[in-house]
Amino acid sequence: MNLRRNQNTLSASDKQAFVSAVLALKQKPSRLHPGDSNFSRYDDFVEVHLNAMMPPMMSPPQPGWAHQSCVFTAWHRVLLLEFEKELQAINASITIPYWDWTQDSSRNSSVWAADFLGGNGTGTDGQVADGPFAGAGGRWQIRIKDDPADPDYLRRQLATDATAKNLPSPDDQSKVQEMTPYDTMPWEDALRASTPAAWQGFRPHLEVDLHNLVHRWVGGNMVDMTSPNDPVFWLHHCNCDRLWAMWQARHPAELPYLPDSGAAAGHNLNDAMVFHVPGTVAPWDGDYRPADVLNHQALGISYDTDPPGELARFKPEAWEDWRTRVRMAAVATQPFRHALPMFVLSDELPALAGTNVKGIPLNPVALKRIPDHKRFKFSKSERADFKSAAVPLPGRGTTASPPIGYICPVCTVSVTDQVLFSCGIAPSGKVLVQCRNGDWATYVCPSP
Ligand code: CU
Ligand code: CU
Repeated sequence: MNLRRNQNTLSASDKQAFVSAVLALKQKPSRLHPGDSNFSRYDDFVEVHLNAMMPPMMSPPQPGWAHQSCVFTAWHRVLLLEFEKELQAINASITIPYWDWTQDSSRNSSVWAADFLGGNGTGTDGQVADGPFAGAGGRWQIRIKDDPADPDYLRRQLATDATAKNLPSPDDQSKVQEMTPYDTMPWEDALRASTPAAWQGFRPHLEVDLHNLVHRWVGGNMVDMTSPNDPVFWLHHCNCDRLWAMWQARHPAELPYLPDSGAAAGHNLNDAMVFHVPGTVAPWDGDYRPADVLNHQALGISYDTDPPGELARFKPEAWEDWRTRVRMAAVATQPFRHALPMFVLSDELPALAGTNVKGIPLNPVALKRIPDHKRFKFSKSERADFKSAAVPLPGRGTTASPPIGYICPVCTVSVTDQVLFSCGIAPSGKVLVQCRNGDWATYVCPSP
């Protein structure tokens, strides 16, 4: 097991070993730019991170690979894993330490000492003046930059940004640790409304309230898209990774990651996450899906703050349950005219049949086939009214909130005044409807 420890517990020789391995990686040949001595293996990680941040700036904007989205935790977990593997190829005893910024929250913390990552920057642009990563043209030349005009040396401006005078407090962190679920629709922060209700969940607050604030507090290279140029990036993200693990342990009934579908490509539970543009050199071999990295212990990682015992293994069925539960809840709160097909796909009907929104078994009477639904046929004018007020289902049929009746979405004749609205049609011809008593029912249209 690779034990990741608090940086403030490292011995002088631990720190020395970590720094030496990072410096050695800066000398190793690049995989993304084979044969080009202007780039190193360390710089590959900076480049991957830069690329991950580019898509939102494209025109039209594309979802990024790693940020402001549900995939933030899983994507950075992979980046850390691959980075740690590279350090271990240099010195097998190394793991990435974490920086608990709620404890070590001052500019004089051990993380900024000259024997570790070096200290604050000086001058107008915050050139780092001491420690192993200081200086221009030396061992730590900045090569992958947001702007080619940016300096070649490492920059920091600790606690200078007006919006980031202080690091997150223990209280800020516990608030975020209490938040559930993992994330909420629409999964991407750029698509969220500005109301707090649209920002429910652990991930958006971990990323925005805690993680982003720390980048700004450090300043300099850490506020660039190429932020891994500052080695403190790894200690910061190691801590964010630990917070995800802590959140999972604290909320065993919550799914450790969401969603399994409905987010951008590369962000869903079983999508391969994106680390390079297809057709270009991959930064490492193999793919990772968020589903592959949910349990840090299963990846051979532990934190010195892990609770005793093993973290729960996550069962794929849990997401099935979640889909049914969450989508049915969404259905139940939708005004009729916005109801359905958006939320319940016809091929999901079999999973829904049997219980109503509250999980109560459906009344078998309501579930039975309705044999004589043509009896409730509207008059021509009623039907015209109903149709004009209704929202069409894709394909044939109509769905709406008729006060007096309902038009079968399959054959478009009126079915029964017991039905409030339809949800969708299964390939079998089964139709899911909600009855006035709140139950869900399915029936088979007799004349499709
Ligand atoms: Cu990042
Ligand atoms: Cu970050």
